Amino acid sequence: MNINELWPVIQQKVDGMLEQIGDKSPHVAVEGCYDDARKDWWTSGFWPGILWIMHDMTKDDTYKLRAWDWDARIEQCFMQDNNFHHDVGFQFLPTAVIKFKLTGDKDARRRGLQAASFLAGRFNPAGSFLRAWNQDKHGWAIIDSCMNLPLLLWAAEESGDPRLRYIACDHADTVLQHFIRADGSVRHIVSFDPATGEFIEAIGGQGHSASSSWSRGQAWALHGLANVYRYTGELRYLHAAKRVAHYFIACTSADPIPLWDFRTEDPAAQPKDTSAAACAASGLLEIAALVSEEEADMYRFHANRILTALAERYAVFDQTKEQILIEGTGHKPANQNVNVGLIYGDYFFVEAIAKCNQWKQRIF
Ligand code: GLY
Repeated sequence: MNINELWPVIQQKVDGMLEQIGDKSPHVAVEGCYDDARKDWWTSGFWPGILWIMHDMTKDDTYKLRAWDWDARIEQCFMQDNNFHHDVGFQFLPTAVIKFKLTGDKDARRRGLQAASFLAGRFNPAGSFLRAWNQDKHGWAIIDSCMNLPLLLWAAEESGDPRLRYIACDHADTVLQHFIRADGSVRHIVSFDPATGEFIEAIGGQGHSASSSWSRGQAWALHGLANVYRYTGELRYLHAAKRVAHYFIACTSADPIPLWDFRTEDPAAQPKDTSAAACAASGLLEIAALVSEEEADMYRFHANRILTALAERYAVFDQTKEQILIEGTGHKPANQNVNVGLIYGDYFFVEAIAKCNQWKQRIF
């Protein structure tokens, strides 16, 4: 299968999803049918994000009209009891920010800037990290936040306020210091003393253990740090993204589609995570676009290898299922959402195929 020729197939699939998904806020697909998750859930931006990519690629207003009010709907949740946290980048970059970039809509700009202020308000200056989640986890930071940093970096450029860029870079430097191991593998959670900022311990989180290597966490790091380099031009972020990418490539030499964690006790019995594969592929294409042509081929080759495997063995292009990718794993240690469709897997697959087809705009 030639990945570069897949775009019309994706477009036809998304047209069918428009009918099937209707007004739902899809997160998990079980037996081929997407659920309807809360709008304040961290995944609520991905379906509208797919629609904005489709609109930008095709200029067809059908997608724009269906994506249009998502930023307002998500913003409404701020007025109620809600679960917003470090992941507002996942929610407002593929809705408000991309809507503003593509249409100039002023309300969308305001919503994007407000979400960035909310995220900046989660910064702990003692430990130089964006705190994860809510409740009593005052000192926790997680690798996923790498993907939220472009919200701060976009807002710094858009508003001219450099504080937001300092916060993004300080958090990214903490990731380089405390999350990325010498071999390029990454931790999921690091706990700091919230008062002094001192490192306490690494925690397994959605990975198998504190010393394991959760494959989606690797993908968040490699894609997220490549994006931070794109915004800042600071080479240490590109070098870190490449180190994680090389580790990811080494761990997928036998099979391009990763298990949910690269270090488990019984690999043969473990489920895959296609969402990690899709996000890593898109991140590898991002690195390819940022390095010299001599280096770029290697990253493109491995992105292509992953995307081809996804398309040939893990994608449903007809309408027998609402999702695109099968065999995603949400949270294996909690046995939640294992071997399902995940909207973020679908999003990053579409994002990566769009990049293969000359899509130059960026959401993350
Ligand atoms: N950001 C949560 C996850 O990757 O599952």
